Amino acid sequence: MIWVPQSTDDGSYTFFSEEFGESFHSRQGAKAEAFQKFSEVTRLREKAQRPRLKLLDVCYGLGYNTAAALETVWQVNPDCQVEIYGLEIDPTVPLGAIAPDLMASWTAPVQQVLQTLAEHHKYLQPTLQAHLLIGDARQTIQALITQEFQADAIFFDPFSPRRCPQLWTIEFFAQVAQCLAPDGMLSTYSRSASVRSALLAAGLQIGSIPLGETHLPHEWSQGTIAAWPPTPLEPLSPMEQEHLNTRAAIPYRDPLLSDSAAAILQRHQEEQTASKLESTSSWRRRWNIR
Ligand SMILES: C[S@@+](CC[C@H](N)C(=O)[O-])C[C@H]1O[C@@H](n2cnc3c(N)ncnc32)[C@H](O)[C@@H]1O
Repeated sequence: MIWVPQSTDDGSYTFFSEEFGESFHSRQGAKAEAFQKFSEVTRLREKAQRPRLKLLDVCYGLGYNTAAALETVWQVNPDCQVEIYGLEIDPTVPLGAIAPDLMASWTAPVQQVLQTLAEHHKYLQPTLQAHLLIGDARQTIQALITQEFQADAIFFDPFSPRRCPQLWTIEFFAQVAQCLAPDGMLSTYSRSASVRSALLAAGLQIGSIPLGETHLPHEWSQGTIAAWPPTPLEPLSPMEQEHLNTRAAIPYRDPLLSDSAAAILQRHQEEQTASKLESTSSWRRRWNIR
């Protein structure tokens, strides 16, 4: 596949997937999103003071979340021993991302990691052990569960639930949760009620990625953070909390972790139609959302 870089508002580049009908990153800034929604939210700066860190990058793509994490950790503690696993189905994406223009804004050591991972799918040095597992994440994650990999931070970044429902199901989150350390944090840009209820059904607690100081009761957050109790998290706003009691919160299911996107969407649609939960439109009217 030939990937054509598209610039985003912070000057960094992203790709557009014809297959999924979506951009790989927010148009407001691909690189900024990697730092803000993933490294900052999972508190990597603070965690980098530890001698060792384990990270899981679900949907590695161009590798921006891994790159931002390494920049963050190495700035705080260059001696931190980092182990990273990236899960990615399409090896042409990381390869497309190592063109000089796309890598120019990362530091030289991070460029080296991105290039080696894209070309060889592993980077093994004393302070960094990184692996890129190519294949459907529903299968490749099994190797991490078998070796009892426990991530301090999980960057969860698939295409949106309507486009890639197979990675937002209760069953897949249950697999991912097995790779989350007791005090680890999972971050995702999604604020969808179905995603949040799937995370809850997988046994995790959830919180919001707040907009900033002025978070009003009726405002949407920037995404979702999940962790095992009792890790303290920013609570959802009352509006978002109530959203979890509506039909929009019916989660996606994939009982054998092998269904097609179409089959998962159809099962979800049937469950929504049969549901007695409050309709999402009446919740919208209550909160004055257009
Ligand atoms: C939104 S993009 C990820 C962007 C990435 N985190 C970055 O910083 O560039 C979603 C990625 O998920 C990959 N993907 C789609 N389906 C997948 C699957 N079943 N298993 C693993 N990766 C998948 C796509 O190839 C794409 O690279």
